[in-house]
Amino acid sequence: MTTTVYFNGKYLPKDEVRVSPEDRGFVFGDGVYEVIRSYQGTLFALDAHLARMRSGVCELAINGADVDALGEVSAELVRRNNLTSGDATVYLQITRGTAPRAHFFPDPPVPPTVYAQAGRFTPKGDPVKGIVTITVPDIRWARCDIKTVQLLPNCLANQRARASGAQEALFVRDGVVLEGSHSSLFFVFGEEVRTAPKSNYILPSITRDIVLELCRTSGIAAREAPVFTHELPRATEAFLAGTTVEVMPIVRVDGLGLGDGKPGSVTRRLQELFRARIPKAG
Ligand code: PDD
Repeated sequence: MTTTVYFNGKYLPKDEVRVSPEDRGFVFGDGVYEVIRSYQGTLFALDAHLARMRSGVCELAINGADVDALGEVSAELVRRNNLTSGDATVYLQITRGTAPRAHFFPDPPVPPTVYAQAGRFTPKGDPVKGIVTITVPDIRWARCDIKTVQLLPNCLANQRARASGAQEALFVRDGVVLEGSHSSLFFVFGEEVRTAPKSNYILPSITRDIVLELCRTSGIAAREAPVFTHELPRATEAFLAGTTVEVMPIVRVDGLGLGDGKPGSVTRRLQELFRARIPKAG
């Protein structure tokens, strides 16, 4: 079956999309993206994703993109590609558009390039047994709070994890363990959950916000404060949070087993609470 995608105002077969080699997304990574999960055809936390995208285009001064319209576009792509049952993801991308290569912004401005696709999603990693991680130096820029398509450091980090038999790489900057290559990160010390505070060095993850809210509403102590590498041996549990990984237990960091080497009770509780939020089949 041909995949129908959205490209600059039109729905069309994916193989008919033509992006210019002068698109600034291609040349400079000059654009933002979102990944939204669809459960049984319901777009999960859609408004929060669109709000983050709106803030991204604003930060980068990409003008002329109707971010609000992408909510309906996402829903339409889910329908047109028969994804109204089961798990799917919607990918949205906006770049500054096409113009001859120059470091300054196109003058006069050009229309942004807007692309969206929806596809079947098969979760990776084992949410029951948990996953293995490594730490890597954070070589990203100082605006990790903007969800740009410049993901080379993230790809290099994740590739390094895979090459060493791990599933995710955790970025460390100035001794602080910040987040994963494509996930946010929580540790548990005894009964208290801790995650790096929001800053320009992490993505304001939507799943991270949901997990913190679940902690608040279910009486789990949670604190937004840095976790230093020297504290890792004392951590009793850890987990990733993200659109694709949901709540994913971490059982090892750099070869160090956490707790008893199995997903811990606080993580399992949060997994259950998170799953209760997800639209179910049937
Ligand atoms: N990544 N941190 C980084 C660096 C990320 O790339 C992501 C998500 C997250 C989790 O954010 P959220 O809860 O809003 O999905 C944290 C997406 C899924 C990706 O790049 O595929």
